[in-house]
Amino acid sequence: MENVFLMNHPLIQHKISMLRDKKTGTNEFRKLVEEIAVLMGYEALRDLPVEPVEVETPLETCQTPMISGKKLAVVPILRAGLGMVNGILTLVPSAKVGHIGLCRNHETHEPQEYYCKLPSPIEERTIAVLDPMLATGGSAVAAVDFIKEHGGKTIKFLSIIAAPEGVQRLHQTHPDVQLYCGCVDRCLNEDAYICPGLGDAGDRIFGTK
Ligand code: PRP
Ligand code: URA
Repeated sequence: MENVFLMNHPLIQHKISMLRDKKTGTNEFRKLVEEIAVLMGYEALRDLPVEPVEVETPLETCQTPMISGKKLAVVPILRAGLGMVNGILTLVPSAKVGHIGLCRNHETHEPQEYYCKLPSPIEERTIAVLDPMLATGGSAVAAVDFIKEHGGKTIKFLSIIAAPEGVQRLHQTHPDVQLYCGCVDRCLNEDAYICPGLGDAGDRIFGTK
């Protein structure tokens, strides 16, 4: 599928296996999510625009490429996407950060919006949307809809674990969005949880239940 990238690097796979383990506690879970975000971000941001900057080395002056912070917006989907933000900011500390607050309705499994704020202007930026879980794809589609309504154009979606249903829905609705997945799992269960998955990502990151 064009624009869908499976990130099967052994370091990512190893850390995802640790996340899945129900014995992994909140502290370790949080660290792993952040580390996976660094590894995924390293690859997903490989086409980030650079511009030549003049730098004086101890020997001479040269033109050398640098990333402009103005070129990247990081947009976590609350709550679980927050766990990935610092990983991406480790790579691009000057990136701006927006937030999209969505919560799935337990019966319909459709997302309900409760907060949205994006950095402005958004049009010229690469936008990295972060959410560890892509299940039905409802939240991902709602987030991308919102970003496009506000002028966002170059959108990358980073999910640690996806269900085939979510990949299909996001790709069909927004084929221009580049989707980076750490793993595509077997299926959704009747509660729209990813199987085998890792459970509720938000609860595991924040220690709630
Ligand atoms: C989870 C997850 C995604 C969404 C994925 O969030 O972090 O945002 O579900 O499911 P979908 O693809 O079926 O929309 P949740 O709604 O549980 O909110 P939380 O992060 O605040 O716990
Ligand atoms: N949200 C989660 O946190 N986990 C799932 O498996 C599905 C949606």
